[in-house]
Amino acid sequence: MQPKGYILCFGVIAVFGCAVEICYLFLLSDYAIIPFWGHRKTGVVLFWAPPTGPLPPEGMKLGGQCVITYDREQLRRADVVVFHHSSIAPKDLPWKHFRRSEQLFVWWTSDSPGKVKHDLGLSLAELRGFDNGFFNWTMTYLHDADVVRSYGYRGDLLNDVTKGKSAVDDIISQKKQVAMWMTNQCNGSQLAMMRESYVKELQESGLKLNVYGDCLGSHNTAHPSEQEMKSHKFYLAFEDAFHCREYITEKFWDNALRNDMVPVVWGPIKDDVLSVAPLDSFIHTDDFDSPAKLAEYLQFLDKNDDKYRKYFRWREDETMTDEKMIFELKEKYPDIEAQQRSANLCQKEMKNTGYKVILSIVDEFFVRNKLECSEYT
Ligand SMILES: *[C@@H]1O[C@H](CO)[C@@H](O)[C@H](O)[C@H]1NC(C)=O
Ligand SMILES: *[C@@H]1O[C@H](CO)[C@@H](O)[C@H](O)[C@H]1NC(C)=O
Repeated sequence: MQPKGYILCFGVIAVFGCAVEICYLFLLSDYAIIPFWGHRKTGVVLFWAPPTGPLPPEGMKLGGQCVITYDREQLRRADVVVFHHSSIAPKDLPWKHFRRSEQLFVWWTSDSPGKVKHDLGLSLAELRGFDNGFFNWTMTYLHDADVVRSYGYRGDLLNDVTKGKSAVDDIISQKKQVAMWMTNQCNGSQLAMMRESYVKELQESGLKLNVYGDCLGSHNTAHPSEQEMKSHKFYLAFEDAFHCREYITEKFWDNALRNDMVPVVWGPIKDDVLSVAPLDSFIHTDDFDSPAKLAEYLQFLDKNDDKYRKYFRWREDETMTDEKMIFELKEKYPDIEAQQRSANLCQKEMKNTGYKVILSIVDEFFVRNKLECSEYT
């Protein structure tokens, strides 16, 4: 071969090698500057404005394929930048220049509209400054959020609890008390007072109620043990929001259902609860004309184990699945749209190829809610 041929060959290899290297650095590596969707292994989720309080640690894996960071230096690498409602400030935003078109800016909240407005630190008019495309996605408990991060879901609950006849026998045999309520907020707002007066009427109608916290004259401020909680038949899952769309919190899922108590729901819209909860797993205050009628019904259940036991049918039946619960719900309530299990932030982001912008957080999160919801805060 001629020397010229060697040089040409070497040149081709070098150019090819460089191209591969550049391709790898830019597109395919974990830290790709321009991520290539099909090949990227790890998504980076930057919490630019995290909420106060305990947070998952830096570097923690989120939903398998993503890693969490709070380090703003990672902005360029981040695939998702999350802003919590409590910490977002117009003077403290990422520099626009760094924003890649694939990068998703996400508005995150877990609170009711009233609480969000209270904690926001900006006026709704200032929040309007984020209209027309600052955010790409919302992450809330609402079923139509881009990323649904709700407090609970029937299928997840079913996976976490004991099931079968003997499990339910066991639950019933531990019951020594009728009902409990746990709260420290009784007279801070119109809503808290309205809620407390409902509970007071239940008590005055003869319901045997143990109150934890410092409401209704109780001084029982120590958190009850799990065993103590489980000894009650009913848990008053009274939210600190009234008729706020889909706002069903840990009071319902964790405090009541995961502690083997039947939730008595006040605040959420009944249809919203039906759409996420196991069928016949809760009692809703809206089904009763008065607190006295409800108290009467709870006392009736207290004396009739068979009737009380019906509220555990969803876990007594060992063949129960998420799909079966949805099927039963549709049979009994054809008009209710049953919620399905949703993908988390990471799963959604890793699959995303679409383009979206949020025209207005104010319209999407506050205006669309019923008026009643924000009135009582
Ligand atoms: C209600 O408010 C008063 C003063 O406004 C306060 O002293 C009291 O601790 C609050 N809570 C209860 C349960 O009354
Ligand atoms: C996110 O929003 C920005 C700003 O409106 C937009 O330029 C970008 O294309 C959006 N990206 C996606 C993936 O939706």
